Amino acid sequence: AGERDENETEKGLRVQDKGFLNTAVIRSEITYIDGEAGVLRYRGYPIEQLALQSSHLETAYLLIYGSLPTGEQYKFFENEVMRHTVVHSDAEGFFRSFRYDAHPMSMLTSAFAMLGSYYSDANPSLQGQRLFTKGDKASLAIMDRQIYRLIGKATTLAAMAYRVRQGRDFVTPPTGLSYTGSFLYQMDHIGEENYVPNPVLEKALDVLFLLHADHELNASCTTVLQTGSSLVDPYSAIAAGCASLYGPLHGGANEAVIRMLISIGSPENVPAFIEAVKRREKTLSGFGHRVYKTSDPRSFIVRKTADEVFKVTGKDELLETAMALHDAAMKDEYFIKRKLAPNVDFCSGLIYRAMGFPLDFFPVLFAVPRVVGWLAHWRQMMLQEGGVKIWRPRQIYVGPGKRDYVPAEQRA
Ligand code: ACO
Repeated sequence: AGERDENETEKGLRVQDKGFLNTAVIRSEITYIDGEAGVLRYRGYPIEQLALQSSHLETAYLLIYGSLPTGEQYKFFENEVMRHTVVHSDAEGFFRSFRYDAHPMSMLTSAFAMLGSYYSDANPSLQGQRLFTKGDKASLAIMDRQIYRLIGKATTLAAMAYRVRQGRDFVTPPTGLSYTGSFLYQMDHIGEENYVPNPVLEKALDVLFLLHADHELNASCTTVLQTGSSLVDPYSAIAAGCASLYGPLHGGANEAVIRMLISIGSPENVPAFIEAVKRREKTLSGFGHRVYKTSDPRSFIVRKTADEVFKVTGKDELLETAMALHDAAMKDEYFIKRKLAPNVDFCSGLIYRAMGFPLDFFPVLFAVPRVVGWLAHWRQMMLQEGGVKIWRPRQIYVGPGKRDYVPAEQRA
């Protein structure tokens, strides 16, 4: 009596929304998804048009700055990003300090956080200067610099995580190659002169990067914004996003799909696997989505890209099992009723496998392009009207009421 109800709030009604099924925390101009119709647009442009006509870096400019670049703007942006692919040589020791079998996502997550320690200009507010402000050229230039560095160095850090696991020496990022060409070079180059990445694979990776560049407020993007809302530097916020992406319900799904297909083994075993999923003993990785209640529009483009890649690499031996699983699930009442369809990760892993990437590197191939989307949302939040409000959700307290401490000898 006389006590305040733990869930009372002076701000009005407090509602519980487990998993944020219906809570919007920000107004955004970046990405539009209609999950019922299977529509995805970046800044208004359909994903299908961008995948066919644009490139990952051009789309990165679009996502971050809001419009397609002119030729000159693009040249400048590409030059800045590629110039910033170089990472300080101290980072080599950092990567060598990991265990020989460290998961590349652990390395990449740590590397983004490490990178923040290199740049004292990353957070002007810590130096008593004004935070990034719309219309303030000097602060926007500082922000742009962090953006170029993070997009450029994402490929280099990822390639370093790859090479350290392969027991290879590190290479200096090349000049004159495209973003994905440079990334392939940094991973594959083992001393041969005139190394040129296979153009079909380079293009396929570029399309996959573009498709993975953004997907509005998914778990990792939300994590970047939640972390960034404390006004921490963007490297730390991106590291937090990378950690969130690592999980098998999110960016780790492409790796989980392949592990699942290997465990199924062959098309004959698909019906038994489907039954195990329905008994909730297994998860059908690469199926289902919080927003899409029909096929993920990206999954059609990934399947087309897979055809191009397989012409170069040969078909993946798991493809038949994957197709049998896809067809069985799409016909099954359990999946139809729950509107479960393939997401972008159902096929992307097959492409990465055919291209020769190790399984545990797949989530890294999701994280590198997603840096673009994380930065687009971070920039939008930092420059929003009225400034940043720290993201501090409330809870519904359901624990015990007030009780008094009992000394250890009196406890039953
Ligand atoms: N296999 C089997 N059943 C599933 C699956 C699945 N992949 N996904 C959802 N369901 C079932 C749930 O058990 C639930 O059934 P119920 O209502 O009888 O309890 C129903 O479908 C609704 O699913 P939710 O879990 O409520 O959906 P939610 O939106 O919370 O989860 C998620 C979405 C995490 C993507 C889920 O579908 C999943 O785990 N998929 C597999 C992992 C995966 O592929 N993740 C990648 C997502 S896309 C991306 O990050 C690129």
